[in-house]
Amino acid sequence: MYFGVDYHPENWVFPYAGTAENPEAQWVQDAQLMTAAGFNVARIGEFSWGLCETEDGKFNFDWLRRVMDVLGEHGIKVVLGTPTAAPPIWLAKKFPEILPMDENGQVKREGTRRAACLNSDVYWNHSKRIVEEMAKALGKHPQLIAWQIDNSLGGHFTEAAFNEDSRRDWHLWLEAKFETIERLNERLGLRHWGQVVSAWNQVPMPMAAPTLHNPALVLNWCRFCSDTVVQFVKMQAEALREVTPDIPVTTNLRALRHRFDHFDLAEVIDFVSIESAAAIKTRPSEIACEIDMLRSLKKTGIKTPDGDTGFWVIEQKAGNVNWQEVNSLVRPGVLRMFTYQLISRGATAVLFFPWRQPRIGTEKFHGAVLPHKFEGNRRVFDEIAQIGEELKLLAPSLKDTKVSADACILYSHDNDWVLQQPNQPNKHFSLREHVQLIYNALHDRNILVDFARPAEDLSKYKIVFAPSLHLLSGGEADRLKLYVQNGGTLVGTFNTGLVDENDIASDTGFPHDLTDLFGLEVLEFDMLPPTEENHLTFKGAFPTSHLHPARLWCDIIEPKGCQILANYSKDFYSGKPAVTMNTFGLGKAIYIGTQSHQHFYHDLVAWLRQSAGLQPLLKVPENIEVSMREKEGSRIYILLNHQGSPVRIQFYKPMHDFLTGQNIVGNYDLPPHGVLVIDEHPEAKTAGAAA
Ligand code: GAL
Repeated sequence: MYFGVDYHPENWVFPYAGTAENPEAQWVQDAQLMTAAGFNVARIGEFSWGLCETEDGKFNFDWLRRVMDVLGEHGIKVVLGTPTAAPPIWLAKKFPEILPMDENGQVKREGTRRAACLNSDVYWNHSKRIVEEMAKALGKHPQLIAWQIDNSLGGHFTEAAFNEDSRRDWHLWLEAKFETIERLNERLGLRHWGQVVSAWNQVPMPMAAPTLHNPALVLNWCRFCSDTVVQFVKMQAEALREVTPDIPVTTNLRALRHRFDHFDLAEVIDFVSIESAAAIKTRPSEIACEIDMLRSLKKTGIKTPDGDTGFWVIEQKAGNVNWQEVNSLVRPGVLRMFTYQLISRGATAVLFFPWRQPRIGTEKFHGAVLPHKFEGNRRVFDEIAQIGEELKLLAPSLKDTKVSADACILYSHDNDWVLQQPNQPNKHFSLREHVQLIYNALHDRNILVDFARPAEDLSKYKIVFAPSLHLLSGGEADRLKLYVQNGGTLVGTFNTGLVDENDIASDTGFPHDLTDLFGLEVLEFDMLPPTEENHLTFKGAFPTSHLHPARLWCDIIEPKGCQILANYSKDFYSGKPAVTMNTFGLGKAIYIGTQSHQHFYHDLVAWLRQSAGLQPLLKVPENIEVSMREKEGSRIYILLNHQGSPVRIQFYKPMHDFLTGQNIVGNYDLPPHGVLVIDEHPEAKTAGAAA
């Protein structure tokens, strides 16, 4: 198992370290300390363009080779970052047209990372050349085990640039997609406000304008920008594979935050790497949700350096970040706990960011494995070294294990991009919050969750949640029907099937193409401000632990054969259905016409567990998070105590504690922020003891 660190050796030369006689002396000391921490891999190079190509066409990779040699002497492998995230100053000075233009036509100036328009031919060609030169110079180095393409693509709001090169590519992209001007006008609905065009080069980029651009045009612009990012990565991946066909490529992703289609991007790389900002979010289930989203991006065709089929955490923040308003220290034990959270959800390698707090630049006081002065403050280093020791113990058992989820939540970027546009029915509605309510309910009952695009094969899931698929294509709707037809349980919600893939509203009844699946039609939808609520009155077997409100959005539903589970209890639609269930083929389609509070989703999952046959992984107190990795004949459970106080867990059958080698049975107190890695004790398995 790879365990390592993000290293910026360029920061650790004389006069910031080393001596005038031996300016790179620090590198040897760093490598020794990395070995002492248990690290066996380092990521380097991702911002090194200006140091590797000091003038146009003048390359020098010798210093990076020396770094790799030093790391090699200490048994540390290397992930090499292609340096395109930080174009050099000389490039911008020589070719100012590479600088990205914002929506007001203002140029974003050189002098920082990401100061480039991805559609610029000059930037693209120079990027390709530096990548090829780097691959030729360092690709055969024995330490190299993977390439990281670029760094944090889309970061600092650079997914879109409104340059002339972008305009040219946008028009070509539209032409390739729509083929004729008539079709473009029709699909984008440009008759609205009479904004029809008669030539491709008349189609505007959605720059600052007196009011809103046509939302269908904006949706296509998002798709175009996304395709640009994906093509840029693909170009680099192909260039690297040409020179080093056996070295896998990856790139570091943040949880669906940047505006490109992360699923598309995952298709052009060999394995997914993620950045985690553990300890920054308040709710552990929010971090868990983001990890599960990122793990789900690539489900097949995974090729990692050690052949495992998981994902890598290529930037686990080693402590506080420096970009919040208040950057508190990460408390002792918390980093360890959140590192186990990543492993429990499928990570097969963890690299901490960064190695040392740098003496220069914008991240001087970002937390790191080592502080500026190492002597006397080994707190973070020691915690990480402990994790390293433990992972050495666990690695053989974790090898080839996978997270296998029974439940799935559907998500598509196209849908999110449409919902993020202004002029929504209720600006207080947030898809991310809606997803999180559902996710929390599953997470809190220790039910494992995958995410998927609606068009994926869903047949392996016992239950699928489809929160607010406002934009739904006919093909996606067919997939959902097929899933239920064959016996699946689907939970759909309000704000689903209002527009098709072209952002054109349906005139055949909402949710479009799904009225038969749910056995109902949504006639109207009423919006509530956050200060107001309607209420739900339940019928039948639905367990209600609380009174459940209807919030933000209330679908007014005409039942057409569905069973009614709950009605609204107020207003002119009092007594009308709010929650329904319909039998369709061999399966069931549940429809929730409103958003409620967290308790409702907990009740919903409690109810669905029985009908959909969902088992919680282990019976543990509610505040303990559990995840599981399995392979043929072995199931490893990882339990996390997110509380600042111990939590008592009862084990009714003997379990084997991987970290101590002891058996556990009966009461066990998991310490504050404690971690427990267990499987069933072999004797218990053979004796068939009951949980
Ligand atoms: C990441 C980025 C790193 C560093 C870090 C700070 O997104 O890839 O280079 O800036 O944020 O937390």
